[in-house]
Amino acid sequence: MKRTDFCGQVTARDLGRKVYLQGWVQRQRDHGGLIFVDLRDREGLIQVVLSPEQNQAAYEQAKELRAGYVLAAWGLVRMRPAGTENPEIKTGEVEVSAEGIEVLNPAKTPPFLLDGKAEVDEQVRLRYRYLDLRRDKLQANLILRHRAAMVVREYLDQQGFVEIETPFLTKSTPEGARDFLVPSRLNPGKFYALPQSPQLFKQILMVAGFDRYFQIVRCFRDEDLRADRQPEFTQIDLELSFVEQEDLYQVVEGLVARVFERALGVKVNLPFPRLSYREAMERFGSDKPDLRYGLEISDLTRDFPRSSFNRFTEVVNGGGRIKALNVPGGSRFSRKDLDDLTAWIGQFGAKGMGWIKSEGGKPVSPILKYLEPSEVGTVFQKMGVGEGDLLVLVADINPKVALEALGRLRIHLAEKLGLVPAGDFKFLWVNDFPLLEWSEEEKRFMAMHHPFTSPRDEDLEKLESDPGGVKAKAYDIVLNGMEIGGGSIRIHREEIQSRVFKLLGIGPEEAKEKFGFLLEALQYGAPPHGGLALGFDRLVMILSGADSLREVIAFPKTQKAVCLMTDAPSDVTEQQLRESHIRKR
Ligand code: AMO
Repeated sequence: MKRTDFCGQVTARDLGRKVYLQGWVQRQRDHGGLIFVDLRDREGLIQVVLSPEQNQAAYEQAKELRAGYVLAAWGLVRMRPAGTENPEIKTGEVEVSAEGIEVLNPAKTPPFLLDGKAEVDEQVRLRYRYLDLRRDKLQANLILRHRAAMVVREYLDQQGFVEIETPFLTKSTPEGARDFLVPSRLNPGKFYALPQSPQLFKQILMVAGFDRYFQIVRCFRDEDLRADRQPEFTQIDLELSFVEQEDLYQVVEGLVARVFERALGVKVNLPFPRLSYREAMERFGSDKPDLRYGLEISDLTRDFPRSSFNRFTEVVNGGGRIKALNVPGGSRFSRKDLDDLTAWIGQFGAKGMGWIKSEGGKPVSPILKYLEPSEVGTVFQKMGVGEGDLLVLVADINPKVALEALGRLRIHLAEKLGLVPAGDFKFLWVNDFPLLEWSEEEKRFMAMHHPFTSPRDEDLEKLESDPGGVKAKAYDIVLNGMEIGGGSIRIHREEIQSRVFKLLGIGPEEAKEKFGFLLEALQYGAPPHGGLALGFDRLVMILSGADSLREVIAFPKTQKAVCLMTDAPSDVTEQQLRESHIRKR
């Protein structure tokens, strides 16, 4: 290559060397008699200086340079004059005294500056993603992503995993989202589904005897999007034969610790703590609790036996629960703040929010007149409510509603009160999930994880008699309040799989049509097996400190599942529709 160095890697060690650089003009400053050009590439930027004494033609040419031009520049590396060093950049001690330059490509004025200083509208950034991606932060994020993927491959290879690709044009696999469908030209009226995950294929690979499979693989789910959800995303997908939960925990903890150590230089404490689903819900109102701060939820259902507060008596007599959160320093919230918070948790189903402040040495609350002072005193003691704190109460017939509302409030207040420490990584396993979840909407049981998850051995006998009480061999891995992965030990016997399908309302005909190949494979010597998938985008998002998946995916989609750069999805021609045997409604 003609290029001798990356712009961002030239330092005082290169003094007196002649370098040949190629990159983009970040900025051109004409100081009359001297022109300074900030030239940048992937590794950073360097100052190039042009003077008429050095090369009159190049100096004249440099007057025309604009931000975004692609430029080659060559010359000697020298120290910057004393007092003009820039300690903020790696190359800040030196500059290149240009002997010549060549414009390799002029450029239109970019729609935004790439110096990362100004806030740029995300719509514009996504439309001009190739410019956006030139910015330091996104370059760093994608390079970190690459690093992490390399560490994953290396670790899993060392652990005896084999990377095997599975099809994208396939049959629907139920992971709880809607499928993206692809019409088949060669099979009129038939459709492939893009995989929501390689779930069934990886299980089949265990039947096929590969023992340990992995894949860094794209998955597709047509669901409503949020900052931590993309319609296509990447999993680190694993499956192992002859394992139990403990084996999985070890492999995955080792993998995650290696990634944090190699990609970030952060040492992760092993093993990760574990919480049952029930305990996570009771203490944190979430199945993916953020353990970076306290603010635990308690049960006060039995602590107001003499209260005349209607809401409490109704709920308690109806078999519901009163749940509470002590917010340290929360008594500084105004009446209006508390009304706003009450309205805010309403969106999660809470039918109100009681509160008691501890202020000026005594309790302050609009519901005080309905409560026994001794009860309030006892509750304050039990909850550790001290001067300046705030006790928040949510009562509901459905305990899950009270817990989830307080769980949301917990996160909201931790952010608001600045209780979330920066640079902290709190991992945990959540396990002992129920196998099934009753859906009020569909009036039937749904799989909490997916239909291939094994019930606990000791619960097999109550599968039909008490389906709601059956626990699963399923586990989620949670980091800083985000579910970064989930998996389970699978059903490896056809007879149990058929029983579970039946519980899920999938009859023998439907089971045969949708999953016949799996049921059949299970009859040809399927080994006990289990696995897990990590959300790779989410992992990189946390590693890089970003607050949206769009910051760690090169070409992401918007909230409306649109790619603003290519304009996908878009219209197709009548001919294409005809070939796909499709007519638009
Ligand atoms: P699950 O559905 O829990 O499990 O997915 C595994 C992990 O993938 C990530 N994830 C997503 N990331 C970004 N955008 C999305 N839309 C999205 N959906 C999921 C999450 C999640 O924890 N086949 C099973 C795994 C198994 O049982 O082995 C599965 O896909 O971090």
